[in-house]
Amino acid sequence: MASGLRGIKTVKDLVVKDKVVFLRLDLNVPLKDGRITDETRITASLPTIQYLMDQGSKIVMTSHLGRPKTAEDKKYSLEPVGKRLSELLKAEVILVEEPGGDAVKQLLMGLRKGQLILLENVRFVPGETKNSVEFAQRLAKDIDVYVNDAFGASHRAHSSIHALPELIKEKGVGFLIEKEIQMLDQLIENPKSPYFAVLGGAKISDKIAVIEKLIDIVDGFIIGGAMAYTFLKAQGREVGKSLVEEDKLKYANEMMGRIEARRKTLLLPVDHLVSQGIADTTNTRVTTDANMKANELGVDIGPRTIENFATALKSAATVFWNGPMGIFETAEFSKGTFAMAKAVADCPGLKIVGGGDSAAAAEDSGYASKMTHISTGGGASLEYLQGEKLPGLEVLRTKIRS
Ligand code: 3PG
Repeated sequence: MASGLRGIKTVKDLVVKDKVVFLRLDLNVPLKDGRITDETRITASLPTIQYLMDQGSKIVMTSHLGRPKTAEDKKYSLEPVGKRLSELLKAEVILVEEPGGDAVKQLLMGLRKGQLILLENVRFVPGETKNSVEFAQRLAKDIDVYVNDAFGASHRAHSSIHALPELIKEKGVGFLIEKEIQMLDQLIENPKSPYFAVLGGAKISDKIAVIEKLIDIVDGFIIGGAMAYTFLKAQGREVGKSLVEEDKLKYANEMMGRIEARRKTLLLPVDHLVSQGIADTTNTRVTTDANMKANELGVDIGPRTIENFATALKSAATVFWNGPMGIFETAEFSKGTFAMAKAVADCPGLKIVGGGDSAAAAEDSGYASKMTHISTGGGASLEYLQGEKLPGLEVLRTKIRS
């Protein structure tokens, strides 16, 4: 049993047969014109739902979707998600408009096999994000068991994640969270060497805590994306108009010193694809070294950098990848990120991708199926690796298994 799950029951430890089970999921999927553009979080939720259905539980599911300001913000409705769940489960998913209202009690009385209840976006209720006990009490009144399978939201102290399970005795995590924790624990508990953390994305400030946590665990950092420009500028390179966090230059310098003092590897870009604006895909060139001209900005890593990074990963036994190497959403600037996806996928060891942009990049690159694990949580996976206590897990921890 991995330490992250110590003292936490999983759904198989809970008595769920014929019980009313509240299942908190993270069905926060991207939507375009009301259509789901990536259903990973829905499919990843199916094993727990199916298990509960097989056990004869009466299931009351819910999730957040986006960050709605009011219940009138219908573009954040879970309706399309409910429809897709219904198709995938071959079951009737009944959408209840008012989470915490009286309709659930009525529905539960007549609920038949093959019918599930889905409460509308919990963030339509203002109390949710305030961790309101009053809202939690309303949600709790009809249920026997609480199951959290919303890994991606477990770093949020919100009512359906935290205040609600505080009120319920029989509680635990679903299969999705169990797998997430087992996977992420392998990155921090005796990971196999050589171990590289491949970090990218816009800001170094988002990654400071994870760098701090991993500095004594990894053999090296491979840093690309916009966050690399802050490191390069701190080294005295000319990075033109590239995104730089001026207030992190000192930190970047100290960090490079600490990595060196520990004799760990730090790979930074040695060339770049540069452009004259983030939307300018025509005036581009590959630099000859790590410097750029004053009117240029970096949009991707260059070919020599790709080769360096990929060579380092060739024999890696453990890789954690979080953050793209460039503006990969623009096809012309996606080469470096997709090449990294390939390099991570091709390495012989354990390869775990943090959620959010990197998960989307892994998917778009076509290499997602070759990864050991792609986390469904962006912020949650980073916070977990940083050693933060996630409110949605801590509330489920008892002394039972310690
Ligand atoms: C996510 O998309 O990372 C999770 O669903 C959490 O969403 P939030 O950042 O809006 O809380």
